[in-house]
Amino acid sequence: MAEVCQETPPQEEGPFYLNSYDRTRPAPHHSDLTAVPGATGRPEGDIIYVTGRVTDEECGPVKGAMVEIWQANAKGRYVHAADPNPAPKDPNFLGFGEAMTDENGIYSFKTIKPGAYPVPGGWIRPPHIHFKVHGGFFHMMVTQMYFAGEEHNRDDFLLNSVSKAEQKRLIIEPARRPESNAENLYTFNVALKPFQART
Ligand SMILES: [Fe+2]
Repeated sequence: MAEVCQETPPQEEGPFYLNSYDRTRPAPHHSDLTAVPGATGRPEGDIIYVTGRVTDEECGPVKGAMVEIWQANAKGRYVHAADPNPAPKDPNFLGFGEAMTDENGIYSFKTIKPGAYPVPGGWIRPPHIHFKVHGGFFHMMVTQMYFAGEEHNRDDFLLNSVSKAEQKRLIIEPARRPESNAENLYTFNVALKPFQART
């Protein structure tokens, strides 16, 4: 059990995070990225549910942690103005979300499975969701969640910047949701490290 709660392997933030001062950050900030104020359609792509538990290194729940996610749409395009990908934006997809953990450390999001996208230099990033987790007295965790079975996982420069054992913690297999027969539930647990533990 102790191993499960070792700090989640960090990953690069990348250029498309929308901070609270960025005017392009969508509002409201909430946990359903398929609900865009004023939009009437549903986003392209497969609906997925992403949930998980935020813990400290001793596997205790971190309640009240703020979990931010951001991701490309189904065509591989971010809402961030600096995204050079010419793929179309999706007016029905928020692209950014935030959720606070409950007393058990649990967060959850409704979103869509992101598309892969090209990076200058001829490299293709596999589908992934960026995470930033702020947990009070804990170090802020910045990482990325990946999807099992994606061909570009194998040669992705960022995913392969961590060991194979660490990659296993970042690559998630879908599970069936109890409410439906769809295998679209991804459980991504995040373990934070206390401030004083890092030198
Ligand atoms: Fe990305």
